[in-house]
Amino acid sequence: MSFTDRLGGLGFGGDYNPEQWPDEVRAEDVRLMTEAGVNLVTVGVFGWARVEPAPDKYDFSYFDAVMDELAAAGVTVDLATMTASPPPWLATEHPEILPVTQSGTVLAPGGRQHYCPSSPVYRDRAAKLVEALATHYQGHPALGFWHVGNEYGCHVAECFCEESARDFRRWLRRRYGDVEALNAAWCTDFWSQRYTSFDQILPPRLAPTYANPAQQLDFKSFSNEALRACFEIEAAILRRVTPDVPVLTNFLAHHKPVDLHSWADRMDIVGLDSYPDPFCPRSHVAAGLAYDLARGAHGGDPWYLVEQAPSAVNWRRRNGVKEPGLMRLWSWQAIAHGADAVLFFQWRQSRGGAEKFHSAMVPHAGPDTRVHREVAALGAELAAVPELAGTRVANDVAVLFDWNSWWALELDSRPSDGLKAVDRALDHYGPLFDLGVGVDVLPPGADLTPYRLVVVPNLYLLTDEHAHGLAGYVSAGGHLLVSFFTSVVDGNDRVHPGGCPGPLREALGLRVEEFRPAAEGEVFLLGDGTADLWREDVRVEGADVLLAFPDGTPAVTRNRFGTGTARYVTTRPDEKIMRAVLAEALAEAGAEPVLRGLPDGVQAAARTGGGAEFLLLLNHTDEARTVDLPHPLHHLLAPGRPEVEQVTLHPRDVAVLARHSRSEVS
Ligand code: GAL
Repeated sequence: MSFTDRLGGLGFGGDYNPEQWPDEVRAEDVRLMTEAGVNLVTVGVFGWARVEPAPDKYDFSYFDAVMDELAAAGVTVDLATMTASPPPWLATEHPEILPVTQSGTVLAPGGRQHYCPSSPVYRDRAAKLVEALATHYQGHPALGFWHVGNEYGCHVAECFCEESARDFRRWLRRRYGDVEALNAAWCTDFWSQRYTSFDQILPPRLAPTYANPAQQLDFKSFSNEALRACFEIEAAILRRVTPDVPVLTNFLAHHKPVDLHSWADRMDIVGLDSYPDPFCPRSHVAAGLAYDLARGAHGGDPWYLVEQAPSAVNWRRRNGVKEPGLMRLWSWQAIAHGADAVLFFQWRQSRGGAEKFHSAMVPHAGPDTRVHREVAALGAELAAVPELAGTRVANDVAVLFDWNSWWALELDSRPSDGLKAVDRALDHYGPLFDLGVGVDVLPPGADLTPYRLVVVPNLYLLTDEHAHGLAGYVSAGGHLLVSFFTSVVDGNDRVHPGGCPGPLREALGLRVEEFRPAAEGEVFLLGDGTADLWREDVRVEGADVLLAFPDGTPAVTRNRFGTGTARYVTTRPDEKIMRAVLAEALAEAGAEPVLRGLPDGVQAAARTGGGAEFLLLLNHTDEARTVDLPHPLHHLLAPGRPEVEQVTLHPRDVAVLARHSRSEVS
């Protein structure tokens, strides 16, 4: 049975933590869920202390009741493996599981996620719990998905304890084989760091000054893999005991420690948690980047929005509410970017504990509230378009993003601490979003042949293999746009021979002589606008200069290479210039926006599948907007699904359109 068949359409629901409430409340919960169209809930994320109150003494009776009631109501469960927050007895009996910070502080229990990812004791206890849980719930009618852990690395992404040090050394031995290879990779001849044995190597604990950058970079990779190993231990048990139940975990959006690309193919579905800040007017653009990345990481498959807030969160300095319509708009936005499920944290607002001021689908004030009414209305709306589930998003522009490069770029001792990988990606993704162009966000090793234009906002770290892949893409007729400080170092943070852009030199038709990071707040005149952050002294070697600074230094170049073109941007132009630069590259590549002539602030996205084409229109502004359609389409959210040639979107409004109404498709 496919995921879509199991849910019968799009997934809708949230984290359900009824343990916080007297048993009687569950009857009301289930009734309200049914009324609100909830068909999927995540259960048991913080259940460990309850199901294993003492070592190896399992008591599933509480969750049995919850699972049975949900099954009876037809609600599918994404059952958590409950390993995200170890119970107090485990930390008391085995304090060695506690994580240690870079400066040697042991993190205490009393919050959550207080475990060292390399701890054999933690891993063993988690595995035993998962075995018991999977064996107990296999075949349960409510069990639809396994939710492994919870937001890996959210609080503890790296541990610097002795156990982690041993695990790091084992990882390094596997990676380098012998210590001389490590010395060469880490350039340890500098600063007298030459090792004569792996046993001398430590995690990059707090040191008098910069720790070796290659050591820091390897530690980030190692830490990502240590977390991933925790996931894999659990997933292997689940796949053995319940081979038909899909396995997922929930990634955080824009989460630096966890390389989603290196985990995604181990998931049946990519799950993503997304908490855009309602106070930030462009946060939906950053969210879009995260969604396109989640989809791109799993071959374009539909992904699940596993958590979002119904209204405010409680963990920002100031926690803005989602004004009327915003929760609906941002939920549909996830679907526009390929999500097949829209879930929230959490169902009923906590009475006590750390998250009682985090909004919920059922607020403290009860169901007769704006937030709950909007939740229930969204549930009804999603249930009305089940045919969207399983359809796909296809784009002909790709933006490249890479965790290794992110880690390396943001280490200490760089030319400027102003370069942040996600911001750099947004400097390119934002104008593409505004131009109405759909984008797939992909890792540098992805197959780029389907794309007309590939944008590389910043890949400071680019391996020879990936650079040659990009050059090959261009020479075979592809169009590439690369921004500054790309292809500077190899996988060990060693500068490419000859400097930047290393193996991309021929394709770009230039070389960089000197980086000129801007002073804080410094602005340069450029064309009829400005630029900031960075400049480079570039020597063209065949590339044409499309735009130059007043002193003649190139700002944007274009090189013909093979049958394609490669542009290079040596600075951060202002938004208007960047949009024009990208528009020109798009035009040359023949890449089109989803819909021509869209009014400002309206996003259009297409999903196709099952013989149908859907067009989603999202008004991200606080004013009404009218969109003329190129041909008549059925308005699927309007009563009777009428055919329309024009859509007026109220502030924060959404329209879902299709060429055929459902009856004509089926
Ligand atoms: C996530 C977490 C949830 C909840 C939520 C609040 O990080 O997975 O358990 O804490 O944040 O926004």
